[in-house]
Amino acid sequence: MKYRYSDQEEIDLSVLHIRKRRRLDGTIGIQGSKNAVLPVMAASLLHRGITVLSHVPAIEDVFCMMEILEWLGCSCRLEEHCLTIDASGASMLPVPDTMAGRMRSSIMLLGPMLGRFGEAKTSRPGGCPIGKRPIGLHLAALKKMGVRVRTEGEHISASVLKLTGARIHLDYPSVGATENIIMAAAAAEGVTVLTGAAREPEIEILCRFLASAGADISGTGSDRLMIRGGRTLHDTAFAIPGDRIVAGTYLGALLCAGGQVLLREAPAEHMAECIRTARAAGAFVEVRPDGLFASIKGRPEAFSLVTGPYPGFPTDLQSVMLAAASVADGESLIQENVFENRFCAAKELQKLGAHIIINGRMARVTGRSSLCGGRVQAEDLRGGAALAAAGLAADGPVRICGYGHIRRGYEDICRDLQDAGAEIWLEEQTEDAGCDREEEADGASGSRGSSAAAGNCGPVHEDYNHYGDGQ
Ligand code: UD1
Repeated sequence: MKYRYSDQEEIDLSVLHIRKRRRLDGTIGIQGSKNAVLPVMAASLLHRGITVLSHVPAIEDVFCMMEILEWLGCSCRLEEHCLTIDASGASMLPVPDTMAGRMRSSIMLLGPMLGRFGEAKTSRPGGCPIGKRPIGLHLAALKKMGVRVRTEGEHISASVLKLTGARIHLDYPSVGATENIIMAAAAAEGVTVLTGAAREPEIEILCRFLASAGADISGTGSDRLMIRGGRTLHDTAFAIPGDRIVAGTYLGALLCAGGQVLLREAPAEHMAECIRTARAAGAFVEVRPDGLFASIKGRPEAFSLVTGPYPGFPTDLQSVMLAAASVADGESLIQENVFENRFCAAKELQKLGAHIIINGRMARVTGRSSLCGGRVQAEDLRGGAALAAAGLAADGPVRICGYGHIRRGYEDICRDLQDAGAEIWLEEQTEDAGCDREEEADGASGSRGSSAAAGNCGPVHEDYNHYGDGQ
């Protein structure tokens, strides 16, 4: 249930309930990838015609991107995971703060808007619970292509007489900057050579989509891309692959709960680090023709992981592995190298009895045989999903507020986990359940993490953002 509490934002006050610990056993169909579909939707703006996307997840971020595209004059229809975008009537309008602010990835419209209209007006993604999200790399690259950028407070105005291909090197492989550059370069005159590009699978998917619409891109999948711009794009139909982060979340949930699952259509070829870590934690994981099968008997073993740009361990799965480590046998070490504030789920996991000590980039987790019930607050998308996974390892009932964060990226986490036998359901609520109040965890028996450790959850490292907010 949505509740509008200001002109700026709507929040979803529904509460997730998990009854108690139960082993998973079943098959979960993996939805289409959020991080792939969003840039592909943005790129559809480059074509004055029709784009048809299949296997599109019905998630809040997709609805938000549809709303922005419609605001810009596109017509969008989403039916049974098939999204048709007609961008023939699009025209330049400033993206309102209320829309841009709802979704950090709205910044990825910068490249396509410049490519289509020669102009873009939107606002900075701003800070968010997982980190600052600067955009200096995006802006510096676009300037190399002839774009003039003006920023006033949170607002960004960019314009260009003629987008021109350029040689661009990224000092850090930013996913969003790579995507913005590719989309602008596809519309630019001349050749763009991009080195130091991010190699996340979603970038390869964006390149494949653009190529299917007529763009000329080589080096796809590598950190050196060459885009010959200015090709006229044509109507295209494209299938969005399965979401490796959602599949990894459910693998993490399996580590928490025990049992077995088949993750149908999980993109195993893009999950190597995640699979390696699950195996190190004692799971049996097998790639099968219909998906990824995984099983684990008893508790996971302690494990270590270090997040990093692809092909490193995805930062988006760090929170769920923090949950898994909380019930592992021994001490696990988890190092976060991508976002400065991505240990935020730790504070809520501690309310369920997890022993987590955070020191800078490092979390030291001493596993216990089970967690306890309690009431916790999802504060970001992946952290929220991690709490649901942790709930599967709790002896008592768990309530998770802040479901609005989770539905940004998970189409129906209850349906998915129920398909694997979990007792989880959503209670629609119109009034604030008061989750942000500090509460003793139900049945916690004095086992909460130390407040000192919880207090360490604020921004810990400024040095994640070297490529800061260049103007
Ligand atoms: C994308 C993903 C997000 C994922 C992240 C890293 C989407 C919609 N989102 O986010 O789920 O967690 O990649 O895999 O695909 N940085 C700078 N300056 C910049 C840009 C980034 O310093 O101009 C820093 C960021 O602060 C962060 C790091 O680089 O510390 C990674 O950011 P980036 O790769 O850009 O992530 P996003 O594209 O925002």
